[in-house]
Amino acid sequence: MNTSFQSKASWTLLVLILMQFVPLNRINPRITAKHELNGNAQHTLKKTCYDCHSNETQWARLAYIAPVSWVISSTVSSGRTALNFSKWQNYTMQEKKLLRKKIEWIVLEGTAHQPLYYALKTSKALTHDENQVVLQWLNEL
Ligand code: HEC
Repeated sequence: MNTSFQSKASWTLLVLILMQFVPLNRINPRITAKHELNGNAQHTLKKTCYDCHSNETQWARLAYIAPVSWVISSTVSSGRTALNFSKWQNYTMQEKKLLRKKIEWIVLEGTAHQPLYYALKTSKALTHDENQVVLQWLNEL
């Protein structure tokens, strides 16, 4: 091992260590609205969408190690901004209608929405029956 490699390696290590101190918004904000979702649909959505689209994110262990944590934290932030089931009740009728279309589209699309997440967490993908539960809930909205 030559010295330049060693010094590069130690710089890399130092940077990796320093990265761990960058503060992140990895909290689950308080749930402000009661859920209006029906029990079955909520159970299903909880399993498959809530990690990114609710204030009930179950943070993976990797979510604590930079720089992976940065990617996860920003994915969850933009996911919550696009759709937050914890705030479902606060959406206007108009917003719900729009989201309903988009949710339907994403459920039909399956794991093509966030393929990396579903590849790593295979148990989170929806089965055919679970798809139907969500689609039925959307129909009843
Ligand atoms: C790993 C994180 C993650 C998971 C799991 C996830 N999403 Fe998303 N979702 C995102 C992110 C990030 C965005 C915003 C960027 C984008 O549109 O891709 C988003 C966007 C959306 C949007 C808005 C799309 C638009 O065009 O405005 C909807 C609706 C949505 N997701 C529904 C779902 C549903 C339903 C599930 C569960 C079946 C789900 N998502 C699971 C991360 C996720």
